[in-house]
Amino acid sequence: MGLLDGKIALITGAASGIGRATAERFAAEGATICAADFDDTNGKAVADAVGGLYVHADAGDANDVDAMFATCERELGGVDIAYLNAGIAIGVGDVTALTDAEYHRIMRVNVDGVVWGVRAAIPTMERRGGGAIVATSSLAGLIPFAMDPVYDLTKHAVVGFIRSIAPPLLAKGITANTVNPGMTDTNILNADTKAMFAANDFPLMPATQIADAVFTIVTTGRTGESWVCQPGRDAEPYRFHDVPGPRTAGAQGRRPPDVQP
Ligand SMILES: NC(=O)c1ccc[n+]([C@@H]2O[C@H](COP(=O)([O-])OP(=O)(O)OC[C@H]3O[C@@H](n4cnc5c(N)ncnc54)[C@H](O)[C@@H]3O)[C@@H](O)[C@H]2O)c1
Repeated sequence: MGLLDGKIALITGAASGIGRATAERFAAEGATICAADFDDTNGKAVADAVGGLYVHADAGDANDVDAMFATCERELGGVDIAYLNAGIAIGVGDVTALTDAEYHRIMRVNVDGVVWGVRAAIPTMERRGGGAIVATSSLAGLIPFAMDPVYDLTKHAVVGFIRSIAPPLLAKGITANTVNPGMTDTNILNADTKAMFAANDFPLMPATQIADAVFTIVTTGRTGESWVCQPGRDAEPYRFHDVPGPRTAGAQGRRPPDVQP
């Protein structure tokens, strides 16, 4: 008996790295996998390895994403878990050198892909009576990342979006969280970057560690959280600080005179 017996999990970016490891982890727990990617060769190989369905979909294309959910629902019966994981980095540290094409290339998959995915997931999950949405952000969604500031922008966007949609989705029985991995040993890191980390004794996590975190996230029932993954530690929800409220003006948020500085 697996903890995901009877569940249908749709995973974008499933052909490689974290997506692939999560497909394998979920399948080992009994889930039926819908593996989506635009890398057909490796995507089909993953789907075959886990006895699942492969769907070709460009995560940055709204029509492809809608069709991906429709295919999963038609072929497998629904979607209980949507893991919106497809993403790229561009590695442009100098923003003055950023081309329009690079900017749009990363925005469409890292940001649009999550928005289109959530938009399609909600009605599909409502027809199943609920579900779990997880989007892959990054540690770069919580901290600055000077090596790739536009990547950092996209991953912050994912955190803000998912935390914003989570509260109203509770009434529909749908949870929404992000997973925020630190450096993980996948194809998104090129050979030079991996060599740099190795030379500095900086540990990279195996993709299986992130898959374990995503499994924890979808099975806890918690929502609106961003789960940090770091080498040598269990995944844990990031503790966001409260922002300062207004000091004056307006009834709400006004402090009693004796505590005002
Ligand atoms: N590896 C890391 O250090 C790290 C750290 C934090 C976050 N992440 C995030 O993890 C996610 C998965 O990346 P990974 O590390 O497994 O890298 P990866 O390159 O191994 O896998 C990414 C997958 O996404 C697919 N993909 C890319 N663009 C796509 C598109 N437009 N449509 C459909 N599929 C597309 C690729 O074909 C590939 O299969 C990404 O969102 C990435 O930003 C990675």
